[in-house]
Amino acid sequence: MEKDKLSQIVSLCRRRGFIFGGSELYGGLSSFWDYGPLGARTKKKIKDIWWHRYVLSRDDIVGLDSAIIMHSLVFVASGHLEGFNDYLIECPKCKKRFRIDKIEKVSRNEYICPECATTIDALKNKPKKFNLMLKTNVSASEDSPFDAYLRPETAQGIFTNFLNILNVTHKKLPFGIAQIGKAFRNEVTTGSFIFRMKEFDQMEIEYFVKPGEADKFYEYWVEERYRFYIDIMGIKKSNLRKREHSKDELAHYARACTDIEYNFPFGWSELEGIANRTDYDLRRHSQVSKKDLTYFDEEAKTRFFPYVIEPSSGVDRTFFAVICDAYHEEDVKGRKRVVLRLKPELAPYTVAIFPLLKKNSEIVELAKKIFYDIKDKIPAFYDDTAAIGKLYRRQDEIGTPFCITVDVDSLTDKKVTLRNRDTMEQERIDTSRVLEILREKLKS
Ligand code: GAP
Repeated sequence: MEKDKLSQIVSLCRRRGFIFGGSELYGGLSSFWDYGPLGARTKKKIKDIWWHRYVLSRDDIVGLDSAIIMHSLVFVASGHLEGFNDYLIECPKCKKRFRIDKIEKVSRNEYICPECATTIDALKNKPKKFNLMLKTNVSASEDSPFDAYLRPETAQGIFTNFLNILNVTHKKLPFGIAQIGKAFRNEVTTGSFIFRMKEFDQMEIEYFVKPGEADKFYEYWVEERYRFYIDIMGIKKSNLRKREHSKDELAHYARACTDIEYNFPFGWSELEGIANRTDYDLRRHSQVSKKDLTYFDEEAKTRFFPYVIEPSSGVDRTFFAVICDAYHEEDVKGRKRVVLRLKPELAPYTVAIFPLLKKNSEIVELAKKIFYDIKDKIPAFYDDTAAIGKLYRRQDEIGTPFCITVDVDSLTDKKVTLRNRDTMEQERIDTSRVLEILREKLKS
């Protein structure tokens, strides 16, 4: 059933233009995805809402947009070149390779092949280290290659700019630096649609604090980010949970980490991690770059490396969770209705406008006038390519909260029909008050 839900969602995303396979024209490139016209709208809204909440409306966090390709020494310092590895084991029978931490372990050294159920002896088939970094070279000529890497997290651009930002903003602790952008990992385990991609978007904050205040701010960010998914993204509380990492699960840089997990159709999986990264990154970048990245506390007259609390979220996973959570199927008069109950703030369009009769030029003219009057104020869509029932169903499926239909009566009574996506109730409203009424409804 849940597997079925996943395939329905993937099919909807493909069919309606939310998401397409990457390089599809040439047979596709596994684990790369493109956002179509509707997906690009919702994805941008997620990023804008996050940016507005954490950068524009707070004075303790500043924004950054740093380069994707970075010097190899950045990742020597961060530990990614040494430690950002998956361990792969090969099945002696089917020859497929799997991440050892993702397959069933049956005894101290034995695992079960998820493909052909063979027992794999890890002593005979030794797991091999596989680094997830994507390398490129940025040389000016082919004779002098210069290795550089595509960042595996946006965080490193924040740490390498810590001093620049401190010098220009004169911020006092606690303060944060936020960044939204691409990250790249040569993931081994892929599949499950956009859950694990090789190119994806992150929304990260590195929140710098006094070491003694790290626990307090860690708790604060876990709660703030958990509430964000419920209150702002509209995800049901019953589909979210917090999960604290055990010590042996922690990343090489973290002292504590809590994942916010979503109940995806394939099971509970990570949406975001909130970590206490201690002073690991600033200390390491100081050592490797030989630049002093300490902070001077004027009150206490002391110098120290700030601790970092990092709420690190994936845009694509947030998008995926939002769509899964909004997806509903219901029976309406013996027919299946698919409706995306997206929060209006996240729906690709807020309103769709239709003429009931596309051959009646007066109706079409009035419908288009309403559309052009509001389209730069509210995300709006005009459609006259099918019968009204079909037009409504199409908008339900992409989550448009309101539809407006112009009919013959509209020409005389100066009213149009407003239909609500969730209740399917219809009401007549004054043509001159369309924008005002939509805004009132959005507020409530
Ligand atoms: N800076 C810390 C960091 O990158 P992470 O847990 O590896 O931590 C943070 O990644 C978030 O980025 C994840 O919770 C997830 O939402 C997203 N993410 C990580 N790898 C991803 C992938 N391969 N595809 C899509 N999203 C991914």
